Amino acid sequence: MNERKTIVAMDLGSYRISVLVAELNDSGPSRVLGLGTVPSEGIRKGLVVGFEPALDSVHRAVEEAERSSGMSIQRVFAGVTGDHFRAIPSEGVHAKDGGKREISPEDVDQVIRVARSLQLPAGFRIQHTLPIDFILDNRSGIRDPVGMDGARLQAEVLLLLGEIAVLDNATKLIEKAGLGVEALVFSPLATGLAALQEAEREEGVILLDIGAGCTELLVIRGGAARHAEVLPLGGANVTRDLSIGLNISMQDAERLKLDHVSLAGQVDGETRIPIRQVGREEERFVTAATLRSIVEPRVQETLELAWQRAQISESARRQATGVVVCGGGALLPGLTEFASQLFERPVRLAAPLISEGLTAELQDPRYTPLVGLLHYGYRRMGRRRSEPAGGSGIGANLRGWLKSIGKKAGK
Ligand SMILES: Nc1ncnc2c1ncn2[C@@H]1O[C@H](COP(=O)(O)OP(=O)(O)OP(=O)(O)O)[C@@H](O)[C@H]1O
Ligand SMILES: [Mg+2]
Repeated sequence: MNERKTIVAMDLGSYRISVLVAELNDSGPSRVLGLGTVPSEGIRKGLVVGFEPALDSVHRAVEEAERSSGMSIQRVFAGVTGDHFRAIPSEGVHAKDGGKREISPEDVDQVIRVARSLQLPAGFRIQHTLPIDFILDNRSGIRDPVGMDGARLQAEVLLLLGEIAVLDNATKLIEKAGLGVEALVFSPLATGLAALQEAEREEGVILLDIGAGCTELLVIRGGAARHAEVLPLGGANVTRDLSIGLNISMQDAERLKLDHVSLAGQVDGETRIPIRQVGREEERFVTAATLRSIVEPRVQETLELAWQRAQISESARRQATGVVVCGGGALLPGLTEFASQLFERPVRLAAPLISEGLTAELQDPRYTPLVGLLHYGYRRMGRRRSEPAGGSGIGANLRGWLKSIGKKAGK
């Protein structure tokens, strides 16, 4: 009866679509069995903009992952993003009636249901419900009220809303590729699981995933998500600026960026780098100083905007807040130092935190969101195992999520 348990993560990025197959043991995803990663077509800024090209990319990524793992992929935990996602704080109150005072899982379900029952903007649905705090008879800071005595239970939550049509298109894409969707996960929530240490989640941290089309930000403090937002800006904007600024093709601009752009140290104003301008025969030259003068303002703009948006949650304004960056855009040489100067605090580049069993290829900040999806999926699957048959109580979900973002049940 030693059936091998596996889990599959799919990152529907604008730059690459990646599929990762891993084996599960009792403590989480352990051994990587296979990876498929292909350039993404038909997905822009997190949205499906060309269904057939996107489907083709998904097919190719899945095939590659199946080949390298030797497994047939059936169902995936898929990471999604896009600036349609909105984080809205909400509250619920539930008064216990009768003589019973002990808070039950049903009471928690009920108070969360109340917190979720607000009028949503047309065309949106609640994709995630993230508890921030429970308040029992005006005593706040309660992480899991089940089993405690009290008469009036309040819950503070962060609701993550996504646009239904956009999310349905992501589901359709995966299903058309012949796969089942275990869950569509707002990507930064998964990324946080692979990128952040528990101490960071407790003391306060801003996580920035700088992708091609989007920069996602997640603010966590006291083990709970306080704010999340997606900015429609990323590495592709840097590439486009180079393309326009130097009158070169997007492909050439991307190459130039990967090979020659750096925000680190002294800038070289001497060495001549050849470029091929659109519609011109003769070779032209630029220096690294010119490239930096084009790239730096865009990076600065993106980081400053992310910082500003993160400040809308009170927790980010506190001194202790650290910053962690990941995603392909964070690989720009010198970016962490640049961000650190800008934010006046340490900035850490995060490769996936579980290193056990990960191949060297995956020890890369580009794969942090993908590995995070494995962690997310593992926790979801564990939660389903522990739920009573047929029961999908919000309270049970909630406690699973509490655990998944570093809160300790019962404390
Ligand atoms: N070494 C590097 N230096 C600079 N930029 C890099 C480097 N490697 C990758 N990038 C940039 O990172 C971006 C891709 O990042 P990533 O793979 O995280 O994107 P994605 O998840 O597919 O996109 P999104 O999250 O926006 O949907 C591209 O803009 C690419 O140019
Ligand atoms: Mg991404």
